[in-house]
Amino acid sequence: MPRIHVVATGGTIAGAQAVPGGHGYAAGAFTVDALLAAVPDLAGIAHVSAEQLVNIGSQDMNDRVWLTLARRLEQLAASDDVDGIVVTHGTDTMEETAWFAHLTVRTTKPLVFVGSMRPATALGADGPANLRDAVALAADPAASGRGVLVVLNDTIHGARDAYKLHASRVDAFRSPERGPLGRFEGGRPCFTLPPLAAGQGSFPLGDAQALPLVFILYAHASMGRELIDAALAAGAAGLVIAGVGNGNMTDPALDALQEAAARGVAVVRSTRLPEGAVLRNGEVDDDARGFIAAREFKPGKARVLLQLALLSSRDPKALQEVFDQA
Ligand code: DGL
Repeated sequence: MPRIHVVATGGTIAGAQAVPGGHGYAAGAFTVDALLAAVPDLAGIAHVSAEQLVNIGSQDMNDRVWLTLARRLEQLAASDDVDGIVVTHGTDTMEETAWFAHLTVRTTKPLVFVGSMRPATALGADGPANLRDAVALAADPAASGRGVLVVLNDTIHGARDAYKLHASRVDAFRSPERGPLGRFEGGRPCFTLPPLAAGQGSFPLGDAQALPLVFILYAHASMGRELIDAALAAGAAGLVIAGVGNGNMTDPALDALQEAAARGVAVVRSTRLPEGAVLRNGEVDDDARGFIAAREFKPGKARVLLQLALLSSRDPKALQEVFDQA
């Protein structure tokens, strides 16, 4: 029987409504033991052990928890008593944490993130079924060597490409650029794409005690330099721009960012759109302005990649290579 270890961090999967049937609820109301108890047939799938790392809504996820979680996952992955790992997590920032884990945790063992869109007390709660699928996936040898995976709503996504694209529906997660890696059929994982584990563990944390400060700025009509200047005053090592269209923005914003790049701040152009890649030197002359193009990575994931890349280089050419190869 495969030995699967569950690391719980909170989220709606552990959430409880204030009033039965009510809209309001609190994430992280239940511990991991309660989550497992809600899935009766787990014992037939794997021998499951569990721990509660934190119990927070993932909107409160932060660098400190990321560093602790990544190091704990490395430890578990290195254990001969663990065949696969599941992380239960809120869906609001799951796409960032799973991507951070993919980039920092070196293992070929299955490492699966799972959450839910409805609280555990809701009619039609999706958490128990998602958790069951996550354990079944982590217990499946076919999930080895595929990088960090994200499972919700009978669908298997890669951490590189998974995004939450709806605020409330149970099918909120999509992989718009490359599509999902697979699905569940009759309760069994079925992969429909070859392994895409590129870059897993390519940014080992070493003894890093903090991550570089990187802000995301949202572009819009009439965008000025005020928030760019404020981010620089706050000590930003990097800025990710959620640009309009193909990573564009107003001239005042471009000029302020070019000044920042000239001072050694890493400037990455992404897009506020849910789909499409931002490539170098479209309407913005990245070569002349010293910017980096985010390619397929939307702002939340681009920020994670830039934070990790800045641990070893601030050279725009080296940073562009990181985005080109990720
Ligand atoms: N509080 C949000 C979170 O923990 C709820 C979203 C969810 O988990 O589905 O991400």
